[in-house]
Amino acid sequence: MSDLELVEGNAKLVEDERGLSLVEGDLVLRGDFTRLLNRIRPANLGRELLVKAAKPRSLGPDPVAVDATAGLGEDALLLAAAGFSVRLVERNPQVAALLRDALRRGQENPRLAPAIARMELVEGDSLEVLPRLDAPPDLILLDPMFPARRKSAASKKKMQLFQHLECPCDVEEALLHAAIAARPRKVIVKRPVRGPHLAGVKPAYAITGKTVRYDCIVLPRDGRGQ
Ligand SMILES: C[S@@+](CC[C@H](N)C(=O)[O-])C[C@H]1O[C@@H](n2cnc3c(N)ncnc32)[C@H](O)[C@@H]1O
Repeated sequence: MSDLELVEGNAKLVEDERGLSLVEGDLVLRGDFTRLLNRIRPANLGRELLVKAAKPRSLGPDPVAVDATAGLGEDALLLAAAGFSVRLVERNPQVAALLRDALRRGQENPRLAPAIARMELVEGDSLEVLPRLDAPPDLILLDPMFPARRKSAASKKKMQLFQHLECPCDVEEALLHAAIAARPRKVIVKRPVRGPHLAGVKPAYAITGKTVRYDCIVLPRDGRGQ
């Protein structure tokens, strides 16, 4: 531990042979894309709710996505495996450090490397990044924190630590407005299965699972200035 030591509350970033972790007492948070290896296999990927919601084939060749609430990048990896080039925006410096380290380790895994090569981390606030994109992306994904889902998450301890880092997203409505203003073809909002529509914006369609729902807001091409 040295310059990697930090930070918020009693949580510390610690580096060992397994990579960078955020540790607080017995809670450990580490990015690990190998957990998703089975889910990104071609036979399984199409069954992912997020991939069903994104419909990458409907977006033409080389679709571009922005994950505006990147976290540890798991949703972004699913999108990258499905063919998107993904810009991952994360505003929390500790989470961004974990994500950067997970991407570095993932590049060394031949089964992850092709998807990871399409993922680019931007450390910053999406409220500032989205208005400055060079061009409208095909897709913007929003997954703001919502405590109800986290309470029931299998990896409860991990999420406890995540919640220490990040108060429930205080800017989720502003994020949705910034996402729409960035003129993507589609905004996908990950919600608790029975949660209200974010900012009351009704999606064109939703893909619903047992615990989460992907609300898909489809924007008219006119709205993109084309
Ligand atoms: C629920 S987590 C996302 C998990 C992610 N979908 C995954 O698969 O790992 C939400 C993340 O969004 C980040 N976040 C919240 N508001 C943000 C903003 N305005 N700009 C960038 N990141 C933000 C938080 O720091 C947190 O890491």
